[in-house]
Amino acid sequence: MALPDKINPDELDIDIVSDNDDISTLNCRESDSTDPLGVQDFLETKAQIYSKNNLTSLWRVKYKGKIVAFFSLSMSSIGLDDVPRSKQVKEMTARYPALLIGQMGVDKNYRGRKIGDAICKHCIGLARKFNERIACACITLQTTEDKASYYQQYFFETTRKLRNGQVAMYLSTT
Ligand SMILES: CC(C)(COP(=O)(O)OP(=O)(O)OC[C@H]1O[C@@H](n2cnc3c(N)ncnc32)[C@H](O)[C@@H]1OP(=O)(O)O)[C@@H](O)C(=O)NCCC(=O)NCCS
Repeated sequence: MALPDKINPDELDIDIVSDNDDISTLNCRESDSTDPLGVQDFLETKAQIYSKNNLTSLWRVKYKGKIVAFFSLSMSSIGLDDVPRSKQVKEMTARYPALLIGQMGVDKNYRGRKIGDAICKHCIGLARKFNERIACACITLQTTEDKASYYQQYFFETTRKLRNGQVAMYLSTT
């Protein structure tokens, strides 16, 4: 059956990866088969180890019973360099509690159908919910400069250019 141009977000099942879910079958490379952010490398060589050692939580997205995307979330904190001036609390803590979107990838065959959109909205919703109970001032992620505009649509700001050429992005939970 042909895939619809846009998938209804209500048809996406977003949950933590369980023992029965195999996310290693995903192909999250770029269309030219490169992997500039190491998303595929993470999936194939690091995801299980990170998860087993509580370094990240692995999430998967299913559409009609098939795993079509994944993302990873961790508790984190960011320094003042990564907090926009307007959000800095003067002469107080130098570190701000954050939810880190460590990795995120939609399978090549399922892109452009708002699955990435559903993941971003899910993460933003989770961070806001956490923040009601355990302070989580912001969401942070790192990406390539050319991808920053993808996250800007959710009001993420670029706060810093990193030494590896990537950029750090910030979104307040409030
Ligand atoms: C980035 C990614 C997660 C987006 O997932 P997706 O499900 O295709 O995204 P959506 O369908 O929600 O959004 C697609 C929109 O984003 C835009 N988009 C995709 N890549 C973009 C980029 N690099 N920069 C800016 N916009 C981008 C598309 O043009 C499209 O725009 P439209 O809605 O106006 O047509 C997916 O392309 C992917 O997995 N890429 C490889 C791994 C990766 O880069 N992960 C992110 C690591 S930070």
